[in-house]
Amino acid sequence: MSESYDLIVIGAGPGGYVAAIRAAQLGLRTACIEKYESLGGTCLNVGCIPSKALLDSSEHFDNARHAFAAHGIKAEVSLDLPTMLARKDGVVKELTRGVAGLFKKNKIDRVQGTARIVSATEVEVTGEGAPQRLVTKRILIATGSKPAGLPGIPFDGQRIIHSTEALTLPTVPGRLLVIGAGAIGLELGSVWRRLGAEVTVLEYMDRIVPLMDAGCGKLLQRALEKQGMKFRFGVAAKSARVEGGQVHVQVAPAAGGETATEVADVLLVAVGRRPYTQGLGLEALGIALDAKGRIPVDAHWQTSVAGIHAIGDVIAGPMLAHKAEEEGVAVAEHMAGLPGHVAYECIPNVVYTWPEFASVGLTEEEAKAQGCAVNVGTFPFLANGRAKAMGEKDGQVKILADAQTDRIVGGHIIGPRASDLIAELVVAMEFGASAEDVARSVHAHPTLPEAVKEAAMAVARRAIHM
Ligand code: FAD
Ligand code: NAI
Repeated sequence: MSESYDLIVIGAGPGGYVAAIRAAQLGLRTACIEKYESLGGTCLNVGCIPSKALLDSSEHFDNARHAFAAHGIKAEVSLDLPTMLARKDGVVKELTRGVAGLFKKNKIDRVQGTARIVSATEVEVTGEGAPQRLVTKRILIATGSKPAGLPGIPFDGQRIIHSTEALTLPTVPGRLLVIGAGAIGLELGSVWRRLGAEVTVLEYMDRIVPLMDAGCGKLLQRALEKQGMKFRFGVAAKSARVEGGQVHVQVAPAAGGETATEVADVLLVAVGRRPYTQGLGLEALGIALDAKGRIPVDAHWQTSVAGIHAIGDVIAGPMLAHKAEEEGVAVAEHMAGLPGHVAYECIPNVVYTWPEFASVGLTEEEAKAQGCAVNVGTFPFLANGRAKAMGEKDGQVKILADAQTDRIVGGHIIGPRASDLIAELVVAMEFGASAEDVARSVHAHPTLPEAVKEAAMAVARRAIHM
């Protein structure tokens, strides 16, 4: 038995490391146990950051090949994949080292090893040496998630892969088959398409990113098809085997019927992620998981055992880094006696394709299902001066405002830098702003955010530039 802490955090992903920093800032003596040497969890090591590094690099490559000419720039372009992958690794290294630096600065004890919860006040860590036991007043589980698989489609790490391996393919596959038109399928599908692979995405539902705004989803689908990506909807991958260096995938209509075989060089399975609780000792503690394998928590992120909390991908809600971070801050503040809070209705969701697809709040379908009458304003980037100057014609901003109060209840943007533009609508929703509030705010000209202002004006049918 050794040290005694106010808080032990298990997992150093965006949920865990942020919670540890906030707790330390608030004076709690904090330790963070992480299995891997590199801090930052899925997001920094094999998720958000490396995928965005490759999206940015592949976008430069694609622009150099296809967009430069229109700007009057002549260039001969060829791909140096090892350098592109090394740059991505460098970005990851800098950021994960940054987290280690923040731990040091905030005097957080970093413990490398695998944690098992012995009781509400004791955690056992198995690492390189003999297992050690740490004593604490509170425990926070932030163990995240792992890629989900499909029965009959065993991962082999080379031909049948998940997102982690799709970030490190040593060569561009001739034909890449992707199962799942969610965020991972579309983002990593885009990377390899831009680098030259023939990419086909198989999706069980009848559209891409099925939980996001259907109209914007259709626009994104068209844009991706223009880039050469192919989609097959209403189909389910049933099984896959590797034969003669290729993957043979049995695909059936989702509604049932005859199977057909698709052949590819690489099969990327991107059908979601499952919460990761293996080896934590939850069963012995009496913490039962829900039907989706998530840890149930109350409004203050406490599990069924007093003193043990959980946040991030391992609990319910969208599996997003910023959701985990907000929960990390809020749970630490709550532990320190402050009123920690997360505005779950204002969590943005972004798919970093080009054009990007960003969303916050209700979709039209959800508003209808909830009986919330809305006025909808849309504005196309085609009519935005800055987008035109950039050569970006695809996409639109769509704002949903409550028909009675004019309060903004949802925003959906497909277009250039939608990931940045959505922040304005998140803040507007957080402050309970009306569409008119946004419409009357001065936006610099010529900028992409003017499209947000015009969409807000369009809610009252008074957009100027269309
Ligand atoms: P994680 O980041 O999964 O961290 C959990 C940590 O706990 C891990 O480091 C793990 O090693 C450790 N751990 C687990 N069990 C133990 C144990 N027993 N003992 C010690 N340590 C343990 N989200 C976004 O918001 N934006 C994006 O652009 C984005 N892109 C993504 C791209 C990809 C390819 C993937 C796979 C995910 C992406 N995500 C993105 C999702 C995002 O990565 C997750 O939502 C986020 O990492 C969840 O944070 P977390 O702290 O809950 O868990
Ligand atoms: P997802 O849940 O976003 O999408 C999975 C897709 O696969 C769904 O459209 C589903 O209908 C389809 N599917 C499921 N089973 C199928 C089958 N048998 N055949 C055909 N299609 C099938 O999951 P994804 O893309 O794997 O991402 C996992 C998590 O990581 C998500 O929750 C996401 O939020 C997060 N993530 C976030 C990113 C971002 O914020 N930009 C980027 C990447 C991941």
